[in-house]
Amino acid sequence: MTVTSEDHPLDTFLGHKLLEQHHIRDADEQLVRRPTTEEMARLEEMAIPGTPQDLEKVIAHTREILSYRIALGHTRFFSCIPSPASPVSWFGEALTNAFNPFAGNLSAGPGICAIERALVKWIANQFALPPTAGGQFVSGASIANMTAMTVARDHKLAEHTRSQGVVYISEQAHFCVRKALRIIGFSDRQIQSIPVDSNFRMDVRILQQAITSDLDEGLRPFLIVATFGTTNTGTIDPLLPIIDIAKSHNLWFHVDAAYGGAVAFSTKHRYKIEGLGQVDSIAWDAHKWMFQTHGCGLVLFRDGTHPLKSFAAGGEYVRDVSVVRDPSNYGIELTRPARHMKLWFTLQVLGTEAIENMINWGIELAMHAEDKLRSLDHWEITSPASLAILTFRYAPPHLDEIMFDRLNETISKEMIARNVAVMFTTILDGKVCLRMCTINPNTTMNEVTYVIQVVEDVAASCLQQSAHYCFIFENGGSGTIKQSLDAIAYGGIIAVIGFLSVTSREEMLDVGILALSKGANVRGVIIGSNEILEDVVRFISSHNLALPVERTSKFTRDGVIDAFDDMASGQHIGKVCINF
Ligand SMILES: Cc1ncc(COP(=O)(O)O)c(C=O)c1O
Repeated sequence: MTVTSEDHPLDTFLGHKLLEQHHIRDADEQLVRRPTTEEMARLEEMAIPGTPQDLEKVIAHTREILSYRIALGHTRFFSCIPSPASPVSWFGEALTNAFNPFAGNLSAGPGICAIERALVKWIANQFALPPTAGGQFVSGASIANMTAMTVARDHKLAEHTRSQGVVYISEQAHFCVRKALRIIGFSDRQIQSIPVDSNFRMDVRILQQAITSDLDEGLRPFLIVATFGTTNTGTIDPLLPIIDIAKSHNLWFHVDAAYGGAVAFSTKHRYKIEGLGQVDSIAWDAHKWMFQTHGCGLVLFRDGTHPLKSFAAGGEYVRDVSVVRDPSNYGIELTRPARHMKLWFTLQVLGTEAIENMINWGIELAMHAEDKLRSLDHWEITSPASLAILTFRYAPPHLDEIMFDRLNETISKEMIARNVAVMFTTILDGKVCLRMCTINPNTTMNEVTYVIQVVEDVAASCLQQSAHYCFIFENGGSGTIKQSLDAIAYGGIIAVIGFLSVTSREEMLDVGILALSKGANVRGVIIGSNEILEDVVRFISSHNLALPVERTSKFTRDGVIDAFDDMASGQHIGKVCINF
């Protein structure tokens, strides 16, 4: 089959097939599908090319390959930053790619370059940046952050001072920021992680102190990176005070607005971007809360000419077609796809109001989830709904922190196993929490209500099933050790005080194996010396602990004999006491 053959109207056929795949994708309700070892081996076999295959067969294989996935666009996928791509974006991308455009050079693609330039200006304006602003589309926020920080480095540090440069990031910054800094030549010792306050915002007081102390040591602070919508909690770092600090020390101020920046397109929530227009550079992803398929990030500069210093380059073989204004001079790539065209297509087809409503909806869903959880017992909101992210945990009484962590991890796994929702855990203040990011515009309120109802049921059953004692005093012996091993938490401690009931060697359980299977620590507690006993008595009286007393005898001949008989019977639980 050839692409041009009239016998095979491949274009119509492919168009039809593409739409068919789209319907199939949407019909797939499974949230997580992982290949078995055998399936994985088959997939690897499929990767190897050879003789031509029947097109229908290759399409079927493609579908199979793609079926193994976490469905990031599913209405009940609430983890990471979901990818609820609009079919309009998908269509815009397919349409653009049919032309395989070259967006690195103005001569090669004047049409797409004009759209990119004007669209970038329009977005910069939404972010309140001045008319001098510019930038370009990149594959995602990781590269956008790296591009911006490279420009910051070249503007604020001379080559010979790079080794003294210091960057300040919040401890809640996305990990791609540190990764990018390493790639562009900064060691971990040059990256200061600033702690956050109780609302998970970069602590501005500590930031100021860190800069002052680094300056005192002769270092060269040059860059602050804040986040507009942290991945963990949707928190917005305090932009205005950071702007003041950056200005007073002549530092570059970059903001990672990968996901949160989208609120700039909502008239209702736009007030939250206060200060964003005054920063030096911004990273943003349209493939997050702007409903684009993957590979649609944007880097913006307050002064659109700033990237030239880092990236302008050329070769004699392109002298006939290059000009300074070529996009390749403003970023890392030469050959670049027209990533912006699908976004342009989406905005044209849907219009800005529909997009705004879709963004607002995500925020309402997160607030709804928070309200529902607050109405339930034993659920703790670890960070309230911010932008469209909410974190929480199940914390029923009488359990300790280790047990809360395990319980919430189990709840998350069970929600996936039941195909109800994907809400992976995260860690906040050292606590394991569940996290929901509700930016999918197709998720309904009823779906969120349903998910919260199910998570409540799942939590109750996980609690019931979980062996949830961290520490057990075992004094029954062979008769009760099985119960203790069933009831002990993974990694818990069983302190064996004594084996009152005795069993034959054959009937005795294999305690070692059972303990291993729970990762439990089973250890004997010796009665010990007088000294230890005196310590125990002191501890008990100083803490006013009540000891369970089984019976008390008088200090008479018969009383003492009775007391020893009781001890020998092994029937007692509390202390057998003699009063004298
Ligand atoms: C705040 C933030 N920054 C950066 C990134 C990385 O973006 P990308 O995966 O598009 O490179 C993410 C991804 O979730 C993010 O949430």
